[in-house]
Amino acid sequence: MSSASATLDTAAEALLGTPVPRREGREKVTGTALYAAERHLPRRAYAWPVPATIARGRITAVDTAAALALPGVLGVLTPYDAPRLGPSDDPGLQLLQDLRVPHRGWYVALAVADTLEGARAAADAVRVTYEEEPHDVVLREGHPGLYTPEEVNGGYPAHREQGDPDAAFAAAPVRIDVRYAVPPLHNHAMEPHAATADWDAGRGHLTVHDSCQGTTVVRTVLAGLFGLPEDRVTVLAEHVGGGFGSKGTPRPHVVLAVMASRRCGRPVTVALPRQHMAATVGHRAPTLHRVRLGARADGTLTSLGHEVTTYTSRVREFVEQAAVPARVMYAVRDSRTTHRVAALDVPTPSWMRAPGETPGMYALESAMDELADALGMDPVELRVRNDPATEPDSGRPFSSRHLVECLREGADRFGWAGRRPPRREGPLLIGSGMAAATYPVYIAPAGARAHARPDGSYLVEVNATDIGTGARTVLSQIAADALGVPLDAVSLSLGNSALPAGPVAGGSTGTASWGWAVHDACAALTDRLARHHGPLPDAGLSASADTTQSAKQRSPYARHAFGAHFAEVQADTVTGEVRVRRMLGVFAAGRVLNPRTARSQFIGGMVMGLGMALTEHSGLDPAFGDFAERDLAAYHVPVNADVPVAIEAHWIDEHDKHLNPMGSKGIGEIGIVGAAAAIGNAVSRATGHRLRELPLTPDRIL
Ligand code: MOS
Repeated sequence: MSSASATLDTAAEALLGTPVPRREGREKVTGTALYAAERHLPRRAYAWPVPATIARGRITAVDTAAALALPGVLGVLTPYDAPRLGPSDDPGLQLLQDLRVPHRGWYVALAVADTLEGARAAADAVRVTYEEEPHDVVLREGHPGLYTPEEVNGGYPAHREQGDPDAAFAAAPVRIDVRYAVPPLHNHAMEPHAATADWDAGRGHLTVHDSCQGTTVVRTVLAGLFGLPEDRVTVLAEHVGGGFGSKGTPRPHVVLAVMASRRCGRPVTVALPRQHMAATVGHRAPTLHRVRLGARADGTLTSLGHEVTTYTSRVREFVEQAAVPARVMYAVRDSRTTHRVAALDVPTPSWMRAPGETPGMYALESAMDELADALGMDPVELRVRNDPATEPDSGRPFSSRHLVECLREGADRFGWAGRRPPRREGPLLIGSGMAAATYPVYIAPAGARAHARPDGSYLVEVNATDIGTGARTVLSQIAADALGVPLDAVSLSLGNSALPAGPVAGGSTGTASWGWAVHDACAALTDRLARHHGPLPDAGLSASADTTQSAKQRSPYARHAFGAHFAEVQADTVTGEVRVRRMLGVFAAGRVLNPRTARSQFIGGMVMGLGMALTEHSGLDPAFGDFAERDLAAYHVPVNADVPVAIEAHWIDEHDKHLNPMGSKGIGEIGIVGAAAAIGNAVSRATGHRLRELPLTPDRIL
């Protein structure tokens, strides 16, 4: 007995922090993992939404006769006859409820047919007439109607001011006053948004397979919209092909699928074509930045100003919190961080990987590089010089802050000190750059249940969503670790709103939030088992946990992950093409629970940052009010050939007791933060020119 348990303990100890491969890896690579649109339910029908073709105005008529005459068409829903919906926090989900068109691409009808092709043909045959109004989709500095909201995304105050930043700036011996622009960007997850809804009128039960980042919230929203008690709605998301925030809140496709299923009495799939997604599932709003930095000759910052101008839609206010990271990064008393927003006739922006930090740190970290240039100081040393002892905005102590360690280790691994000066190789200009990264530690309440079966196996239930990150795997590791059993003994059930409620896979909270509940449920079960004598009953033994109390407790600490990026680039003086030769990130993100999936998350973020720096761009056509880039042929995400072989993610061994029982910080988003700035800084070192508008495409380089 004692020797057996000693073996198990050793196995369990090795479990957290070991590179366990994805538990669903085989299903995914063999195509047996089913996604939301692949639920081949009997009598399944398909629906295809009709997007508005004006940027602003009113519908005056919808002619469905031609559509209804097509073979296999089951119906066309329009604002004149669609079912009335209950309330929702997101007005963007009030679909087919009125005749207003708030932006181009807004859904104005829904065609339902026996086949996908039939639904698409019917949607094409719907004739909508409009009364068009003048629209405005172009954001600019000083845009009329700009206002400062109360709060920005994340619940942060939009405006913060400490001391006298203007006087401090005026008095600073070294000053930087620069403007940067980040264009609209799109999440474009691999799997487009899709849902299969099955309204069972007999049972009065709605079952929905949805490609989303969290089924608990989708259930709540659908229950509200369709006037159903929550226990009559089941939302499932077994496998999800990415989201990057665009599936973090319920999206139109799922509401339309339910509407159609209720109308037709059949299961209905809505799978959005990628061309629709630019306008209907959110995007990163463009941000215009003015950054003012004042410093003494030794590099000590004396004034910091980060002013952000952005847009939201006329449907819903979403304000990218891009000035917020400047409240965390550097020790400076006199500061102003502020946001202004204009409501334009644009699709509603929303979360995209590290909203706020991503564009904000691009601007701040580029400006820090410019300041280092102006001071004639090494940019790593400039950041070390201004590393704060406490969080600058709040004065709170950090639960842990190892930015300096990341900078030092990154510089060491990259060979920063010994790097060669910018140089030429034939037509190529070569240079290196760096930038810092930060992302907050959020935590959300979650529940979990753990069961011990008489055969020695365990089932752990938690409403996590694995959007491709490896959540299923790391949560199994946390469970096995807390139970003190091998991983094989644990099966995990997730992605089902009937399980104990859990938060979305967003804000880099997943592992910490679900994992805490899993840990507690498994620890409670271990206690029960220790007190149980004799064989287990046939039903086994169970224990539950709910972290609402612990997760909602406000920490006295400022909790953030940090990191440092280094990049070497080449700019081609003939073609204008920039290529990244090497990229290296070092992160301080608490305890890393699975190095394999963690590395993948960090690298994935860095690659997304590479795309932001060099190729990704969504442009709103001023005349049509539409995004010009609406597929992956026009919206250029980096492909394998764009990513250097020499891309490395490292992390430091960070022990932070003020987080959760696992000691982990989130890792899903920090990889993208600062990556574009490091590349931009390298480009300016290589070329000798500072470009302040992304992406750094050949036309801008030449
Ligand atoms: Mo992430 S943008 O919080 O899903």
